[in-house]
Order: sequence, then C-alpha cells, then structure tokens
Amino acid sequence: FRRLYSHLRPQGRRPSFGIAFDIDGVIIRGGNPIGGSPQALSRLHAEDGTLKIPYIFLTNGGGVPESKRASELSGLLGVQILALQVVQGHSPFRDLLSRFENDLIVAVGKGEPAKVMLEYGFKKVLSIDEYASFFKDIDPLSQYKTWRINQNYEIMKNMNGLYSRYNVDSDAVKGTFIVSDPVDWGRDIQVLCDILSCGGLPGKAKGHQPALYFASDDLEYQAAFPSERLGMGAFRIALESIFNSVNSTPLWYTSFGKPNPYVFKIAESVLMQVASTRYGGQCTVDDTKENKFSTIYMIGDNPMVDIKGATKAGRPWFSILTRTGVFKGKDNHQEYPADIVVENVDEAVEYILKKEA
Ligand code: G3P
Ligand code: MG
Repeated sequence: FRRLYSHLRPQGRRPSFGIAFDIDGVIIRGGNPIGGSPQALSRLHAEDGTLKIPYIFLTNGGGVPESKRASELSGLLGVQILALQVVQGHSPFRDLLSRFENDLIVAVGKGEPAKVMLEYGFKKVLSIDEYASFFKDIDPLSQYKTWRINQNYEIMKNMNGLYSRYNVDSDAVKGTFIVSDPVDWGRDIQVLCDILSCGGLPGKAKGHQPALYFASDDLEYQAAFPSERLGMGAFRIALESIFNSVNSTPLWYTSFGKPNPYVFKIAESVLMQVASTRYGGQCTVDDTKENKFSTIYMIGDNPMVDIKGATKAGRPWFSILTRTGVFKGKDNHQEYPADIVVENVDEAVEYILKKEA
C-alpha cells in the first residue's frame, strides 16, 4: 500500500480545488499527446513526482482495465498516474456487480471488454467475439471477413476452457454491456438483436429482453482523422433503430458516461478519494462540508458531453472548453456554453493555477 501510494505523500495543506481532465481531444488525439498535455500535467506534481493538485481523468472512452489505462497514460504523459485517478465510461458498471455477479453476461467493444468486467468482479463473462463463436452461422458474412477468420483462429485456440464451462444453449444471457466502441458493427448488431429479442438465448423463441448497458452515448468524438468519428452513441442509434424495426416492444437500455449527472457524482467522490489519500495518507473519503471542494474544473473538448454534463452537475463544477477536439469554434458554444473557452489544456491549467494562486 505504502509503495503504491508513495507518490501521494502528504505535503502541506490540501488545495480546495480539483481537476477532471477529458482524454480524447484534450490530452490525447489518435494515441499522441496534444495541447501541451505532458507539461500541463507536470505542473500538478512536485519536482520529486508527488502530487500537488488532486486530479483525475474523466473519459467516456475505455476498453481496458483502469489499472492498464493508468500505466499507459503514465508512459505517454511522463507523470505517475494511479488506477484510482482513471474514471472511464464503463467504470460505473462496477456498481451493477451485485445484480449480475453470477449471471452470464456478454461484453462488447474494442480492447479487452471481458477482462474489464472480470476485473470488476463479474464471474461469468464472455466477450461478444467469444460468445458469437459458440453459434455456427450466426454471422452469415463472417466468411468475407478475412481479418475475422484470422482472429477466430486465435480465439478458438484459447477457447478450450470456455467450451466446457459455458452452455449457451441453456444458460441465458442476463446482461449485455457495451464496454467500448464496437469493432464489427454488423456482426455485433446481429448478435445483440439475437440475444435481446430471444430472452438471452439466440435462435430460440422470442422472449423477455435482457438488460442492456452502454458505457457512454457519444454521437461523435475526436480521433486522429481531421473530422469527428462516430462513437458509441451512433452505434446505440443503429442498434435501437434496427431492434425496434424487427421487434414489437421497443429496446430499453441505460447509458452511462458524461453528461450523465451520476458520473459527475462518481468523479467528485473519486477526486475526494485522491485528495484524502494524498493529504491524509489513507484511502478513506472525508466528505464533510469543510472538506468538500470549492471548485472542480472539468476540462473538455465536447460541448454536448463535457460542458453539458458539468453545467448540469452544478456547483462546485466549473467548465473549461478547449479547441483541440470536437469543438473548433471561435467563440463559445451556442447551446452549451462553457464557463471559459481556451486554446488547449496547457492554457486551461495555466488559467486554473493563476486563479487559485
Ligand atoms: O471513444 C472515446 C470517446 O467516446 C470519448 O472519449 O475522453 O473524449 O471522453 P473522451
Ligand atoms: Mg473528449
């Protein structure tokens, strides 16, 4: 414990403010740091690396466990980041553990969606790749997907244990979790419609819809390509529209991620945890009135997501919009104006540190 939290050693008084950084379009774009992010973050650490200002990453992205994302970010940005400081779109899925702990669930998306859910404590998890491979001919287009054929070969080699442990003919899927951006939209929509229309048993009679959760609902986000890319919200629209066209009962689902106010509550409590670990040397949250933050800065690039969410969350949130991602306007955003607009994250941190000095 001491080693894990050594860079959070108590040092002076706890600042009365904290910062939540969006990742895509603020800190990183297409895998590379942007907007002077390494320099901006280094200003929040002392020379020996210890944390001076409590901050977290609040992203709608994901696909890998928080611990892995934290070490990837540490390597890329040159500061030590803890798993505790990473809140991803799927982090609130943890809170559903008591409901699905021993049920068969299917995890969808890029990266390692099943590993994410297993790390949260869910016991019976299959990725949609693994699940689909149990059903011969479930994807009539699979023979045309050369990349999928190669991948299937890899999956099959690793599936020995899975085939004996799971009986997907009798064990109904109880929950489907869209952990990160789906890779093969066509196959995933087909298989999800099968699961969700047939009571969790593809190919069987129509039945009660199992639960469906999305980690976020971003219509678009900023990646390496010059214009925005379709995100999980776009996938949700496609799935919902197709499901509703082939079923008489409309699809029901829950979406997490910003701008959901629940996520901003979680973020506030995680920031308290970061701060109390840092300044109290232990991992208990002291959220008495005197210890609450007077300001939490949300630095984001997407007005519809980051700014709308921070504005809806109200005090102590203060929104800062950058021009390095989805938003590229000259002035403030018309529909969801931020408290201030800056060029990039470096300028945002400069503003905060000056204001709080
Ligand atoms: O897929 C990632 C995207 O939806 C947004 O990520 O970091 O901008 O919230 P972020
Ligand atoms: Mg973003």
